[in-house]
Amino acid sequence: MKRIKIKELLTTVPTAQAVTVQGWVRTFRNNQFISINDGSTLQNLQAVVELNSLDDTLLKRITTGACVSVTGTLVASLGKGQAVEVKVTTLEILGECDAEQYPLQLKNRPSLEYLREIAHLRIRTNTFGAVMRIRHAMAFAVHQFFNDRGFYYVHTPVITGSDAEGAGAMFRVTTLDAANPPRTEEGKVNYQEDFFGRETNLTVSGQLEGETYALALSEIYTFGPTFRAENSNTTRHLAEFWMIEPEMAFYDLPDNMQLATELLQYLVRYALAHCREDLEFLHKRAHDEEATKPQEQRSEWGLLERLTFVTENDFVRLSYTEAIDILKNSNPNKKKKFQYLIEDWGTDLQSEHERYLVEKHFKKPVILYNYPAAIKSFYMRQNEDGKTVAAMDVLFPGIGEIIGGSQREERHDRLLRRVEELNMPLKDLWWYLELRKFGSAPHSGFGLGFERLMLFVTGMTNIRDVIPYPRFPGNAAF
Ligand code: 4AD
Ligand code: MG
Repeated sequence: MKRIKIKELLTTVPTAQAVTVQGWVRTFRNNQFISINDGSTLQNLQAVVELNSLDDTLLKRITTGACVSVTGTLVASLGKGQAVEVKVTTLEILGECDAEQYPLQLKNRPSLEYLREIAHLRIRTNTFGAVMRIRHAMAFAVHQFFNDRGFYYVHTPVITGSDAEGAGAMFRVTTLDAANPPRTEEGKVNYQEDFFGRETNLTVSGQLEGETYALALSEIYTFGPTFRAENSNTTRHLAEFWMIEPEMAFYDLPDNMQLATELLQYLVRYALAHCREDLEFLHKRAHDEEATKPQEQRSEWGLLERLTFVTENDFVRLSYTEAIDILKNSNPNKKKKFQYLIEDWGTDLQSEHERYLVEKHFKKPVILYNYPAAIKSFYMRQNEDGKTVAAMDVLFPGIGEIIGGSQREERHDRLLRRVEELNMPLKDLWWYLELRKFGSAPHSGFGLGFERLMLFVTGMTNIRDVIPYPRFPGNAAF
């Protein structure tokens, strides 16, 4: 008989029809009530075994974690907590689970830290089921958003020969024997003998290749994995993360800010509309966790309020120069509470400053723009003041930077001068510069960190808990 997913079954009108359900046992109570989850929804299905209807050896094998196939009749439930239940007629164990060894027992609720060590099983918990269903919905919504607006999805390369983005340290890709690589006459590693006949790395961003497509297809986006070999052991950084990077011809910086705002609001709205049950579960989960903290550390708002707030309010747009003024005169700066004190125009902002602006000063998402050229990437468009570039960062409560982007320098002479000032390798960048010679156009784009978005939407607090198999310094398990 054809399997029905639990999500569908729970909204089916029960008429004692025969149904088959397959899934994993969450609990088995009183040798009678089996609670089954198949991942289609947070809810479990209750399957009821009538007394003496199954033999004892079979009953013993119905343990938490076991995979079962149940056929029975769908009836209105007598118990509370569910509208329908299945009265079991036959039950088959598809995969046994030794209760002694299975680490996910309801009675000893495992910590998130421990669950990271058993990432192959953590998806069977309510929390990770909810997070990963939302992750799917958000990825789907990203494509929906751009497709609806006529953006083309471009697959930029994962292995790259250009060492030019400057977004972060890179992972080398090589097939040379690390212990005994071929050498040039000067004794350096001879990458001409490597697989690609040159040095190659895993990409830190699809932007530069994305720009070439925007200058032909007008509006494009990439959405793929990116890699950074930085030794950042924080709750906001991964060595492998997914990034959404739209790139648009004929957009200036305000157009870019507008698109970033609409994208974020669309995604959050999509989650509220399509992931209600999972969000309500995570809302409650975060609320319970907050309650264990001292009063002054608790956040004023719950997850659902934060999400709704973002969809209903404009983001503050603030220049870097205005931000420095606010920060310089802020209490934590005057009382030397910031770890990095703000003294002069030109210093890079740390996440403590970003979070002060968003969480304390404005209490709203903030788009910071026009940063000093010296602290931003070479490709950002130079402003007429000779000091700043048309950069923007979108800062979110609890997260800090969620988006980084800019208008791009489309003027060949200006870009070349910047590349030379920074001693960047022209041999790797020739094609990027050439774009500015052959029908250049004003254009802009940004990168949204998918896992930073996921942190915001799920209310989880560690980025390692919103990606299936996190990679970070010292860890590439699974
Ligand atoms: O600010 P970033 O480094 O910008 C770029 O890579 C540009 N090329 C994007 C563009 O304009 N097309 O990174 C963009 C975003 C950040 O705002 C952050 O959300 C996320 O990517 N991000 C990370 N997320 C997780 N782990 C890391 N190590 C991250 N580094 C950046
Ligand atoms: Mg950035």
